[in-house]
Amino acid sequence: MSAPHRGVTVFLTGLSGAGKSTIADALIAGLEAEGRPVTVLDGDVVRTHLSSELTFSREHRDLNIRRIGFVAGEVVKHGGTVVVAAIAPYEAAREEARELVERHGRFVLVHLATPLEVCEERDVKGLYARARAGEIPVFTGVSDPYEPPVRPELVIDTSVTPLARSVALVRAAMEGDGAPPRARGEAGAPAR
Ligand code: ADX
Repeated sequence: MSAPHRGVTVFLTGLSGAGKSTIADALIAGLEAEGRPVTVLDGDVVRTHLSSELTFSREHRDLNIRRIGFVAGEVVKHGGTVVVAAIAPYEAAREEARELVERHGRFVLVHLATPLEVCEERDVKGLYARARAGEIPVFTGVSDPYEPPVRPELVIDTSVTPLARSVALVRAAMEGDGAPPRARGEAGAPAR
């Protein structure tokens, strides 16, 4: 086991198909290979085990993200590492999750700002096609909003940034320094 770390949550947000799960998987593999256990809160898995009764209404999405924030905070409290991958389209809910985590440790919000056209082109689950056909009436990016994060620690467009580079950027943002939780301008943070 490596030296104990201060608890940290990496929160990957972005449209369906933006690359959240792909980056999460690679990130987790690297962390686990170093003997660092990770709690993974992937949207699809959370919606199976923790939020199975929830719909995609704003109210339910916010509740989903609040639950994720709460669980992440509980893990971070004990020095753990959490990787969240969820669309989380609303700023207020993401900031609520940040608040729940930052009571106990670090929160690194990563916006996967892959353009909608690219996500739609990928359409890994065939959901965009179904949304365009009207089979899914409320679908993020098509007929439902995605509010870009106002203060992300990191922004990555996976249509131009290779996977290994994306993972390295996230790792740098996770471990870059021991700055106070709400400090900005950390290593890997976007210019603004
Ligand atoms: S969130 O908005 O509450 O954060 P979450 O990440 O848990 O969403 O779940 C999103 C996943 O649910 C998507 O990856 C997609 O597979 C599926 N999904 C099903 N219906 C919808 C919809 N109407 N809008 C967005 N995602 C949907």
